[in-house]
Amino acid sequence: MTHLDPRGVVPGPIPARAGIGLRSVHHEALLAERPAVAFIEAHTENYFHAGGAATRALERARANYPLSLHGVGLGLGSVDGVDREHLARVRDAIARFEPALVSEHACWGHAGGEWFNDLLPLPYTEEAALHLARQVTEAQDFLGRQLLIENVSAYVAFEHSRLAEWEFLGEVVARSGCALLLDVNNLYVNSQNLGVDTDAYLAGLPAGSVREIHLAGHVRSGGVLIDDHGSAVCDEVWQLYRRALARCGPVPTLIEWDNNIPALATLVAESQRAEQILEERHGLAA
Ligand SMILES: [Fe+2]
Repeated sequence: MTHLDPRGVVPGPIPARAGIGLRSVHHEALLAERPAVAFIEAHTENYFHAGGAATRALERARANYPLSLHGVGLGLGSVDGVDREHLARVRDAIARFEPALVSEHACWGHAGGEWFNDLLPLPYTEEAALHLARQVTEAQDFLGRQLLIENVSAYVAFEHSRLAEWEFLGEVVARSGCALLLDVNNLYVNSQNLGVDTDAYLAGLPAGSVREIHLAGHVRSGGVLIDDHGSAVCDEVWQLYRRALARCGPVPTLIEWDNNIPALATLVAESQRAEQILEERHGLAA
């Protein structure tokens, strides 16, 4: 049974336009102001409870906007398997909110009963790609949904990586049938921290599988870029976004902002900038 709009109308697929990440500080303003954003994205784990103010706010917001549910807790590359309890809660959230897209990360997050509150990078080997693909398949089968898998930022690389990240992600797509969420800021951060070649990355990525793009801010700290989602998107990331769109075609694009969260109007303005670029390149924005 849906808890959504009593008319039973749920905004449908996400268009190739720009949306915003919904954070709880903006629940009230989003519901009151109904800004013109093409979609909203929410962190799945924040809405696991069937009741409560947060869930009620998302149910109401969901009646007005297409929704993407973005998971941060499954750690699908972890060696000790997929947490079925967590997965069941994701499945419940999908049933409750009927999202158009469901995403997670190409990372690990737990081992030996310890859980780490982080999106930890994997070594880029055939073995790790196979393992992640197997667990993505398991999760997709359980959820009855295709997942979008997001590239993560990293500050160190594994010595025994044998594949480039785009080859690793391509393997996971080919073996599991998942799609990709390309975080352009994460790619930029990795290009600066680890010397990832963005031309080769965009050329090698299975671009047709990219179904969503993330844009966010980062901060420089001691010569390293930290993916803190705490500021506006910088010029270099906007440039890389243009190149990503040239390669991937028109893709729904989301502004993520998780620290130093600004007024809702600032987030909406960032999404409008993304939408302008989509329009310039593909003429799709309204
Ligand atoms: Fe992201």
